[in-house]
Amino acid sequence: MELPRLKIGQDVATLMPVYIKDRYTHCLLTGKSGGGKSTSLLGWWAEDNYYGNSKILVDPSGTLSLLCYAISGGNYVSMDNGIALNPMLSPYEPSQICDIVIESVNQMVTQTSPNLPFTVKMVDMLDEAIKNSLKINRRSLFCVLDYIKNMRGSAETKDGIIARLQYLLSDPKMEKLLCGKNSIEWGELIDNKKTLIVDCFGMSRAKFVFTGSLVTNGLKNYFRFIRRKEYKPVSVFVDEFQNFVSPGVSEILAEGRKYNISFCMGTQSFATMDDKMTKQMLNVGNIITYKLAYRDAAIIAKELDIEPQAIQYLEKYHVAYMTTKERGIAKAPYPLFVKEKSAPTSVMVEPQRKSKPSWFTTESYQPT
Ligand SMILES: Nc1ncnc2c1ncn2[C@@H]1O[C@H](COP(=O)(O)OP(=O)(O)O)[C@@H](O)[C@H]1O
Ligand SMILES: [Mg+2]
Repeated sequence: MELPRLKIGQDVATLMPVYIKDRYTHCLLTGKSGGGKSTSLLGWWAEDNYYGNSKILVDPSGTLSLLCYAISGGNYVSMDNGIALNPMLSPYEPSQICDIVIESVNQMVTQTSPNLPFTVKMVDMLDEAIKNSLKINRRSLFCVLDYIKNMRGSAETKDGIIARLQYLLSDPKMEKLLCGKNSIEWGELIDNKKTLIVDCFGMSRAKFVFTGSLVTNGLKNYFRFIRRKEYKPVSVFVDEFQNFVSPGVSEILAEGRKYNISFCMGTQSFATMDDKMTKQMLNVGNIITYKLAYRDAAIIAKELDIEPQAIQYLEKYHVAYMTTKERGIAKAPYPLFVKEKSAPTSVMVEPQRKSKPSWFTTESYQPT
């Protein structure tokens, strides 16, 4: 099957379009704010939509979501919309669900409070609480929270987790998003070429890191634990990717080609990342960069084997790029004109409980 190609612009010398030859190679997109990153992401989104691929957008700032939604429609997850990402309802084994929740909490903790480590004891406690909630079929993080409150164990460990879960669930809108009665089924989404947009507008950093990590960890588990003869292609677009870099994500990055998954990672700067994370992000097939400040330019320039100044003084709306086969400077295509569409407001109807109390019925009396 021929995979769609990614257009990144025109070659300055020849004015011919420049393509990335192999779409299913990950792509790192960097540039200062206002450079044109979101515009590029939107263009690629439209292209993937044209080819009917499954695609997922994680948009921490919420600036791109409505435009992407206008292009593609699809499942829209936001604080105001009723599609939930309830990890406790994922179609995985209990231990795999534990992984998703624990890794997402861990990511939130390491990203937002680096001096408060997520301890082994905390992991154990959370693991037990999740498994027990699943055992009694109470598939909600609220139940996990209640369970932990009633557990025995060191108060410090307990308080550490309780505070974090409570913070996540304290907002009724977040509660709906994380504990609602539905969950995205990754396999079904990808096989049926569906679209998922996760709009994090209105969430604090900790909350969007948790929400975005549910997506990356959910995907990772899908590829790890569900064996398929053939993997349908899926493109994942993540803006502000630095928030979601973790060992789990590097795993899918490393094995992406095998699973036909491509990550397109937007980031403004490497300043908040340590060396290891920076290396993980640079270890991708395609690098595309708009103008950067010296320090970041130097990091990318080393990869591209050019002078940092070439990136530092790039013209407006021009990019330096490196694919697996070539390098160059290109002019970014003119922005698509897209009229923002408002987010869907209809909340998905939650399934009604069918069972009635057996000792008492409340059906109206119908004389015959
Ligand atoms: N190739 C381009 N040609 C002309 N204008 C562009 C181009 N790319 C981006 N722009 C304009 O620049 C502005 C900022 O772009 P944006 O994609 O939001 O930057 P970033 O996401 O890097 O902060 C937008 O208003 C957009 O219309
Ligand atoms: Mg942007």
